[in-house]
Parts: sequence; C-alpha cells; structure tokens
Amino acid sequence: MLHKRVHQDDVKSKEDDPVYGGRALASSASKYNIPQNEMTPRDAYQLVHDELMLDGNSRLNLATFVTTWIEPEAKQLMSETFDKNMIDKDEYPQTAEIEMRCVNIISDLFHGHTNDQKEACGCSTIGSSEAAMLCGMSMKWNWKKRRVGLGKDTTKPNFVVGSDVQVCWEKFCVYWEIEMRTVNMSQEDGYKFNPNKVVELCDENTIGVLAILGTTYTGEYQDVKALDTLMEEYNTKTGFNIPIHVDAASGGFIAPFLDPELEWDFRLKWVNSINVSGHKFGLVAPGVGWAMWKDWSFLPEELIFHVNYLGGDMPTFALNFSRPGSQVIAQYYNLMRLGFEGYRKIHQACLDVTFYLRDELEKSGIAEPIVKDIKMPLIAFKLKDGLSYDVYQISDKLRYHGWQVPAYTLPKDCKEVAILRVVAKEGFDYDLATLLVKHIKEAIFELEDEGKKAKVISSAPKVC
Ligand SMILES: Cc1ncc(COP(=O)(O)O)c(C=O)c1O
Repeated sequence: MLHKRVHQDDVKSKEDDPVYGGRALASSASKYNIPQNEMTPRDAYQLVHDELMLDGNSRLNLATFVTTWIEPEAKQLMSETFDKNMIDKDEYPQTAEIEMRCVNIISDLFHGHTNDQKEACGCSTIGSSEAAMLCGMSMKWNWKKRRVGLGKDTTKPNFVVGSDVQVCWEKFCVYWEIEMRTVNMSQEDGYKFNPNKVVELCDENTIGVLAILGTTYTGEYQDVKALDTLMEEYNTKTGFNIPIHVDAASGGFIAPFLDPELEWDFRLKWVNSINVSGHKFGLVAPGVGWAMWKDWSFLPEELIFHVNYLGGDMPTFALNFSRPGSQVIAQYYNLMRLGFEGYRKIHQACLDVTFYLRDELEKSGIAEPIVKDIKMPLIAFKLKDGLSYDVYQISDKLRYHGWQVPAYTLPKDCKEVAILRVVAKEGFDYDLATLLVKHIKEAIFELEDEGKKAKVISSAPKVC
C-alpha cells in the first residue's frame, strides 16, 4: 500500500520523532517569512547545522587572515562569556578591566607612551575596520582643530594611501567625505609601496598618511621607517605636522615577536596611531580588533562620549554600542596563555611552513613569489609567463580537495598581474602543507596535460 504524503501542517512534531522522520525537516526552511509555529530545539539545530555543511571547511580556508583554530580552553571561556555585553562596563567591571589590560599590553608591544603611569590609550573594536574608522576620525579631528586654530578652510581633507590599501580605508574616505589620494604601485617598484611618492601627494589638507604592515595583497611590510624620515623632512619644511597611521591589521601581532628590532610603531616620531586585528595573528576567533594611539594627546577628547544609563560614568569611543565580551576575554587568555615566547613560537612555525611552500613552489619552476623578503606567514605568487593555464584554474583544481586558495589580481595599476595567496595560520601545519604541495603539483600536471590535449585537438586536420 502506498502511503499518502501528509501535509506538514496537519501533524505536529513529537519529542520522540526520529529527527529525519518527523515533520519539522520535511520541507525546506522558510527564507522570507517567520514560520508560524515552533519546532523543537533539536530539529532547529539539525536544520541549521545541516545547511552549514555546505560552507567550506574553515581549516582549509587558506584565503583568510582570520583565526580558524583556537584552543578548547579559549572556546570554553568564550562560551562562558558571550552573554556579557562589552559595553556594560559598570555591570561587568572585570571584563572592562581585562579590556584595559589588553590595551596596556598591546600598547607596550607597540612601544606606546603611558603618561605618568596612566593607562595606555586604546580600545577594543569588532575588528581592524572599526579601528581604522576610529583612528581615521581622530586624524581628521586633529587636523580640523589645527586648521580652525589657524583660521583656515576645513572643507577639503585628504588622506594619502598606497593603491594596495584594504577596502576599510576606501570606506573610511567615502563615509567621512575625505579625498583619498593614491600612490600607485608599479612593476619597476617591484609592486611595492614607494614612500617617496607619498610625500609628493601631501599638502596642507592632508589629515594623515597610511603605511601598511603586512598588505592584504602580498603581505609586504611597507617601509614605515623610511616614510617617517620623509615625513620628518616634509613636516619640518612645511610646518604641517602630518601624522602616519600604521594599518598593522596583520603585522601588528607578528612583528613584535618575530622582528622586535624592526622600527615600525610608536618608536617612530610621526606614527601616532595603529590598528591591529586581534582575530588575525592575535589568534582570537573572529570579532576583535584594537585601535591604539601613541598617547592620550592624539585622541581628541570631543570624540569620547560619556553615558550614565548603565550606572556610573562610562566613557565610550566606538561605532558600535553592544558587543559580546567573549573575544576580548579570549584575547586576554591568549596573552596570558602564550606570553611572548608562545606567540613567537607559533608565528615562527607558521613562517617556517611558508618558507617550505615558497621553496617547493620555486622548485616547481612555474611560480614566482611576489615578495622576496617574506616577513609574514603568507605567500603570494604569480605564474611564470608562457604557461597554458592560469592561477584561476589552479585555484579551481585545489577546490576539488577542499582547499580554498584565492586567485586575484593586484591593485588597479597592476591589474595584469594575477596571483594566488596562501596564509599559513596556526593549525595549518607542516603535514597539511605537504598535502597542499602535493595537490598543487597534481593540479599543474593535470593542467599541463589538458593544455597538451587541447593543442593536439586544435592542430588536428579538419575533416569536412
Ligand atoms: C591590511 C588590512 N587592513 C584592514 C583589514 C580589515 O580587517 P578586519 O577584517 O579586522 O576588519 C584587513 C583584513 O584583511 C587587512 O588585511
């Protein structure tokens, strides 16, 4: 006897229904309207969980800079604290205290100045993008105050960046109506940022100039020290006082551990603010960044708001109000758990994996790393000329194995150069790297083979 299909609304789910035999999962999930009735937590969990299987495996996501593996203890702390709202500082004073400790520790790593033992100047954010907006705004405000003091026009602010800037800075300029002046990258400069060209674009309306410690495109550490020397000359000559902001979204949690002698931070005279992502090489799960100022004098008081509706006087400088406390807690866990040596060891291990990848790619004879002096655990490479396939095809082939290795072009002035990028994060160990190399070699072999076959077909005599 055939069983008639029962309309789902006619039958209610029962607790003991088998999860895939009950009513709840007998139709597709509602996409546009809230369902009329409840379903059991078990069914709802299974529904959402199953859909998420279609996402890529985050551990094989070599595209992202953001953490994809965290320790079980960090996970536990995060699950214990996701219900604490970061903004409720009066209600959760210890979470607020922990945020302040992180600011102090990060400021110390960046050689920030603490005026007469006061707390360092900085705050947590949801990521580097929010931190960029806050630091950018402080630059704009400081510039405006100076201009108003001089009785000069304040309607045409500009900000000077390299063309390899991350999109957060383009947003910053659009959202806050600032002209973005772009230094082009060129093949002659080795696709690198040329600090000399930055100075050429500055004038009295420049609120600041940007240097990136670890660009999104190639992982290059831009030469902040050279830029600082140039800005010193320029500011002395013009009297403009144009500051440098360092976007250290990635490098800010690497350089202090792997290159402590490298001067890129508040040791430099004109570097007044820095953003860094805690969720990148700070090794926290997504959702935390840090906006840091050299000292309190660079953060305009007018941008700090004071609210009293949570009890007590609460200063706030953020674009968001509510935000979970768990990421800040996890940042502090990492700082305590790993210490300087722990961070150094992890980053060094990831850098060693990157060197292994670079050597293997060079041996393959088809790839050329873009950055020769690799400082970050990231390899960006282009293919040599004259091959019958491109980076996009390699990226596609790697997807068959689950690897997510992005292929993209360099910024608009070098758009003809297409590259692949692998970020070696904690959890992408030597063993996984050997498997990636194996799969890259297989992809090359297959693509060469397909290229040969295509050539044979195209050169075969046409039969009419
Ligand atoms: C150089 C740089 N700046 C800013 C960002 C934005 O960071 P977040 O994702 O933390 O907002 C990124 C992200 O990759 C980046 O690479």
